[in-house]
Amino acid sequence: MTFSELVQKRRSFRKYSERPIPREDILKCLEAARLAPSACNSQPWHFIVIDEPELKARIADRIFSGIYSMNKFAKEAPALVAVVSEKMKFLAALGSQVRDTRYFLMDVGIACEHFILQAEELGIGSCWMGWFDEKALKEELKIPKNKKIDIVIALGYPAEDKIVPKIRKSLEEMSSFNKYT
Ligand SMILES: Cc1cc2nc3c(=O)[nH]c(=O)nc-3n(C[C@H](O)[C@H](O)[C@H](O)COP(=O)(O)O)c2cc1C
Repeated sequence: MTFSELVQKRRSFRKYSERPIPREDILKCLEAARLAPSACNSQPWHFIVIDEPELKARIADRIFSGIYSMNKFAKEAPALVAVVSEKMKFLAALGSQVRDTRYFLMDVGIACEHFILQAEELGIGSCWMGWFDEKALKEELKIPKNKKIDIVIALGYPAEDKIVPKIRKSLEEMSSFNKYT
């Protein structure tokens, strides 16, 4: 599969089969995330793969309930990946302050997309999720309160193969050459 085929093929999957994902393949996804670029090479992320079935079921029940139940589809996913946003290196933190920008979120985003694209290449579907009960997740994983989990990724073999058209802005709308239009 070429890179353009891969990015065409990747989409958010919200129906998964129960088939477990081999650790070997999850490790390949983690390796792709590990190689992601980051501001000042801070690598401000920690990926926690939740694939132990009882733990995963308990966590999914808690973090996708109540106001977060729009994501309850993710209870079917055989694995969830909680991505902890870690501290940046001093220079990146300083740059963030001066520029009033949050480099660590870009860094985490790039690492997650590396992870997800590697998964897609292996035939594993995924869905980014920014809407979940972070407090419950941190309690379950015994993560200190001062840490932040900005993203959870649902991971599993797709249980549907329908082609969903990509709804996107046109090239003209999202880009321009030599001027801002
Ligand atoms: C940062 C981020 C947070 C997202 N959060 C959710 C979410 O909580 N639930 C969900 O179903 N999809 C979520 N998505 C998936 C988007 O809805 C999806 O990527 C977008 O609609 C484009 O569709 P596609 O991924 O199928 O190409 C999120 C995506 C990103 C990048």
